[in-house]
Amino acid sequence: MQYKHAFHAGNFADVHKHISLLQLIQALQKKAKGFVYLDTHAGAVLHDLAGAEARHSNESDAGITLLESNLAQAPGPGHAAIRSYIEAVDRIRRDHGNKRSLYPGSPLLAATHLRAVDQAICVESHAQTSRALQRMLEHSASLVPSMPRVVLGDGYHEIRAQLPPPLRRGLTLIDPPYEAADEEQQIAAALLQGLTRFETGVFAVWYPIKKQYDTDLWLARVLRGITRPTVTIELCLRQPDHTAGLNGSGLMVVNPPWQFDTEAAAWQPELHALLGGASGSLVKWLIHEQS
Ligand SMILES: C[S@@+](CC[C@H](N)C(=O)[O-])C[C@H]1O[C@@H](n2cnc3c(N)ncnc32)[C@H](O)[C@@H]1O
Repeated sequence: MQYKHAFHAGNFADVHKHISLLQLIQALQKKAKGFVYLDTHAGAVLHDLAGAEARHSNESDAGITLLESNLAQAPGPGHAAIRSYIEAVDRIRRDHGNKRSLYPGSPLLAATHLRAVDQAICVESHAQTSRALQRMLEHSASLVPSMPRVVLGDGYHEIRAQLPPPLRRGLTLIDPPYEAADEEQQIAAALLQGLTRFETGVFAVWYPIKKQYDTDLWLARVLRGITRPTVTIELCLRQPDHTAGLNGSGLMVVNPPWQFDTEAAAWQPELHALLGGASGSLVKWLIHEQS
């Protein structure tokens, strides 16, 4: 069955992942030299949160919609990481007829933040989604200084094909649907191969948190054989053993940019509070930087 991110677009995990993504991009842009952004599981450019698929589960009600409404009532302006994400979503909506129900996927969110010196490659395995991605990115050209290259194919294969990038600086986002029985093995193999080809690249892997115990074992298995510095950031709205299903959102980052961890330690608790969380957030080094 074809995974449809439209059912989950704008949910709290998307919010957490997309703030983290913009933080990674901004950190890499502290240097003038360009970098390559490789989005291995790109998905769609824009989702309509008022559309039938999004309304089927109403997940955005506890995500972007709740965040925007709580931010509007908050006494302060909010952490810069949260603010710049909200501003990015707003800018994209303004560019598309100011339709408040639109929500961008990672390709457009990232592309609107890239500079002319940066490059993006967006990989999507579903032909129709990939064609729509290409069309919609072109439609958003005024917002995108460096037009991403859309590749119809397998994101894990493209890690091998595209790395190391000629620019020798790169950020790879691995955001799979977790529907394939061997997704874990594919992620682990792709990470190892990616790091063998491009040891200093930044690799970010999104993962769902249902039960914390299972998540910790999963992280340990995926990181087997990896020696590069790795940090993980997690946001749990419900206790990570609640039976509700998706309790939290995690992002494991290999070779994190400087201060990504300390920044996350500041914005995650604020995001947790704004989303009415009942559990917490954490920043944890899984492999420490060798001194
Ligand atoms: C979780 S969604 C991506 C969401 C997107 N990254 C975002 O943050 O807006 C996963 C996407 O990956 C696509 N996909 C599934 N397996 C893939 C593969 N092996 N390579 C590339 N794309 C894949 C699915 O069709 C789906 O559009």
